[in-house]
Amino acid sequence: DASILIASKPDSKELAEKDALDNKEIPQEAYETINKAKALVEAKCPGVVSCADILAISARNFIHLAGGPYYDVKKGRWDGKTSKASRVSVNLPQANSTIDEILKLFNSKGLTLEDVVVLSGAHTIGYSHCKYVLNRIYDSKSTKQAKGPNNIDPRLLKALTMYCPKNGGNEDVVVPFDVTTPFTFDHAYYGNLEASMGLLATDQALFFDPRTKPMIQALAKDEQKFFQTFSLAMEKMGSIGVKRGKKHGEKRKDCTLHMT
Ligand code: HEM
Repeated sequence: DASILIASKPDSKELAEKDALDNKEIPQEAYETINKAKALVEAKCPGVVSCADILAISARNFIHLAGGPYYDVKKGRWDGKTSKASRVSVNLPQANSTIDEILKLFNSKGLTLEDVVVLSGAHTIGYSHCKYVLNRIYDSKSTKQAKGPNNIDPRLLKALTMYCPKNGGNEDVVVPFDVTTPFTFDHAYYGNLEASMGLLATDQALFFDPRTKPMIQALAKDEQKFFQTFSLAMEKMGSIGVKRGKKHGEKRKDCTLHMT
């Protein structure tokens, strides 16, 4: 519902979603791109397309430009009337969550374990800050287990140790999710998991869990299957908690400001 685009009010006690700790690292350019798209749409067709629809379409277009599938985005979402930083961490999976915790969260939104696996394939592009990877690198108990949940390729471990020291590292350093093809939206994520080259502990754990391992293997074999199931899961995710009409929503003119 585009509540992430709202700017915090200087005089308000409660920060907006954008300023929650988990969202702090989203670059300013990402917001600016959405705001530019909204301004262009408003100039041609004022008051019709919500910021929420622009966000959903932008995500689809980016995925497609990076080599991924082009899926249909249903339109007609309205924007949310509230944006609260305090609602963010409880609704986001964390890099140190267990698969059961992630599943519980996804289930609470109507998503399945298969959706978790298929949507996690989005980690075929992009980067993570070191702080989210430290548990994967330095959790010695599990890295020592050759086939444990946190099993890690020795070359990846060496590289990550260099980029992300346990203490005193630069907190702006980021490492690619998919070391083989970081800029291409493909199914390499799943092959990486099979090769113990998942970046987050949660990524790698999907290959260890007997419920999800066969799904990973099937997606690693078949890129078309990944693209098809990913498209369906994105449509499903894009329909969660959709607001419609004036009672529950608004159509913002400026994506960063509520209407009232
Ligand atoms: C399943 C549980 C998930 C966990 C634990 C998780 C966790 C994370 C973490 C810790 C980061 C790094 C953020 C940063 O350092 O700035 C990240 C990045 C990212 N995540 Fe996830 N994520 C999950 C699911 C998803 C889903 C469902 C999607 C989309 C369908 C997604 C798409 C992305 C993308 C594209 C990035 C890269 C962002 C960038 O390069 O700036 N993730 N995720």
